[in-house]
Amino acid sequence: MPQTTSPRTFLVSGGASGIGEATVRQLVARGDRVAIVDRDAVRLATVAEELGVQVLALEADVSSEQEVEKTTAHAVRHFGCLDGAFLNAAVPGPFQSLMQTSAADFDRVIAIDLRGVFLGLRETMRHLTGASRAGSIVVTSSLAGLTAGRGLAAYTAAKHGVIGLVRNAAVEGAAHGIRVNCIAPGLTDTPLQAPLREFHGAQADALQAQVPLGRMGDPREAAELACFLLSDAAGYLTGAVIPIDGGALADSPLRTSKN
Ligand SMILES: NC(=O)c1ccc[n+]([C@@H]2O[C@H](COP(=O)([O-])OP(=O)(O)OC[C@H]3O[C@@H](n4cnc5c(N)ncnc54)[C@H](O)[C@@H]3O)[C@@H](O)[C@H]2O)c1
Repeated sequence: MPQTTSPRTFLVSGGASGIGEATVRQLVARGDRVAIVDRDAVRLATVAEELGVQVLALEADVSSEQEVEKTTAHAVRHFGCLDGAFLNAAVPGPFQSLMQTSAADFDRVIAIDLRGVFLGLRETMRHLTGASRAGSIVVTSSLAGLTAGRGLAAYTAAKHGVIGLVRNAAVEGAAHGIRVNCIAPGLTDTPLQAPLREFHGAQADALQAQVPLGRMGDPREAAELACFLLSDAAGYLTGAVIPIDGGALADSPLRTSKN
């Protein structure tokens, strides 16, 4: 299918910071309209004010069924349609070993990072079913959705679960013209990195140096991938999980040389 140039309307969760914010900016730059959903009222207002009428700011918690239903319906009402969503909001949770993780912390991370994606997928798919144009949804998992992450048991469980949801949604959505894909970022330079750096302490820079490309990703790079997947240029892609990680997943921790 050729890439369309007509403006589209998307909902972006976690759109007030990092990868989500970079994606909102790229969508707006190409003429699309965006409903930004985020629980950070201050950042949300700042980004929305700067971007103007193409953007609708919706303060909400993605783990709340009522709030996700309300914000999705609000976006559809405000713009008159919805062509897809970037379900990207998440928290890393406490950086603790599995044995130190409380059930309350586990539940909180699963509620935002996994249940939040389920709710976002369900509400967006309900609105896209029967729409006149093909829909596209992109979900943010993580390298932690494909491998283990030391000190991140709940986050790792949630990010693995998100990939299962994406595959299920892709298979069920296909009959309704809805594509669903997943990006799996590696180390990316956003505010979410701060607690990770604190956890790894003096080893944080060494961790970054181990990435084959030798650096963290820029959030704009992950945003480019999300925008491509949302667009008709990715018309034959669904159910895909695409790492954007500077080669980290391809590398072996057992290698003996950097060359
Ligand atoms: N930065 C990284 O290294 C990295 C690596 C792998 C995956 N990711 C994933 O990328 C996505 C974006 O993260 P980021 O790095 O841009 O972090 P970020 O902290 O800059 O952005 C996350 C946004 O989500 C919002 N948010 C958090 N909980 C929410 C909730 N319950 N309801 C509504 N909004 C909520 C925050 O307010 C924030 O604006 C996340 O899914 C994260 O797990 C990030």
